[in-house]
Amino acid sequence: MAPGSPAARRRAAPRLLPALLGLHIFAVAFALEVSVGKTNTVMALNNSNVLLPCTFTTCIGFQDLVFTWYFNSTEMIYHGKIKSKASEPFLVGRNPRVEFVGSTTGKDNNISIVLKNVEFSDAGKYTCHVKNPKEKDAQHNATIFLTVVQKMVEADNTVTLIIVGVVGGLIGLLILFMLVKRVVLFIIKKTQDGKKECLVSSSGNDNTENGLAGSKAEQKAPPKA
Ligand SMILES: *[C@@H]1O[C@H](CO)[C@@H](O)[C@H](O)[C@H]1NC(C)=O
Ligand SMILES: *[C@@H]1O[C@H](CO)[C@@H](O)[C@H](O)[C@H]1NC(C)=O
Ligand SMILES: *[C@@H]1O[C@H](CO)[C@@H](O)[C@H](O)[C@H]1NC(C)=O
Ligand SMILES: *[C@@H]1O[C@H](CO)[C@@H](O)[C@H](O)[C@H]1NC(C)=O
Repeated sequence: MAPGSPAARRRAAPRLLPALLGLHIFAVAFALEVSVGKTNTVMALNNSNVLLPCTFTTCIGFQDLVFTWYFNSTEMIYHGKIKSKASEPFLVGRNPRVEFVGSTTGKDNNISIVLKNVEFSDAGKYTCHVKNPKEKDAQHNATIFLTVVQKMVEADNTVTLIIVGVVGGLIGLLILFMLVKRVVLFIIKKTQDGKKECLVSSSGNDNTENGLAGSKAEQKAPPKA
């Protein structure tokens, strides 16, 4: 068959799609991701143990993956290696107060550590760094900030409590205001109806029935409120 024939051209087109898909897979495969979770700050009490969370994901898997935890960017506090997905990491080096608590054979590649007997000088930046030789030595890191306190007084909670208090108070005031307004309107209506009742007998075209005046007034009140 001649190369320029329509049949040859038809076969060339389907080959273009896998080529484009291949490029896409290539881009995704190198997306090594490292994460410390939703928040990037953690608070710990003086002398307590604190979990420093970290997980990573790879698309093509990993081999002889290296992970390192740094304090304030420079001080290495944990250094581990993982042969493959089938094995747990082995320790290369660590600070004696740091303990590995993760697991890499489960669903998540959890490489969290626990820092024991937290001191005030431990406050700072903790970086979880991952390097995957299987992804052409792709590396990525995530950072979490530790603050050390004497007492757990969470600023966020105080703010939340204040907001809840203020909003609750405002809603309460609004309800009270509406209630008072309704009662006042009801009383006004009642007194007016009372006067009307006197007029009913004379005019005759008022559809307010005796005894239902109160409930009708209540139903009519909201649109006017
Ligand atoms: C922190 O904990 C240590 C050990 O219990 C204690 O000696 C120290 O007073 C604590 N520091 C503060 C500021 O509470
Ligand atoms: C990682 O493992 C630690 C210790 O078991 C656990 O507390 C933490 O929740 C795990 N993190 C994730 C994201 O699974
Ligand atoms: C670590 O960094 C924090 C600020 O990010 C700083 O306050 C603290 O002194 C540093 N700690 C050490 C031991 O360098
Ligand atoms: C973390 O990654 C950033 C780039 O994303 C890089 O500038 C920084 O040096 C890395 N930190 C460490 C401790 O590897």
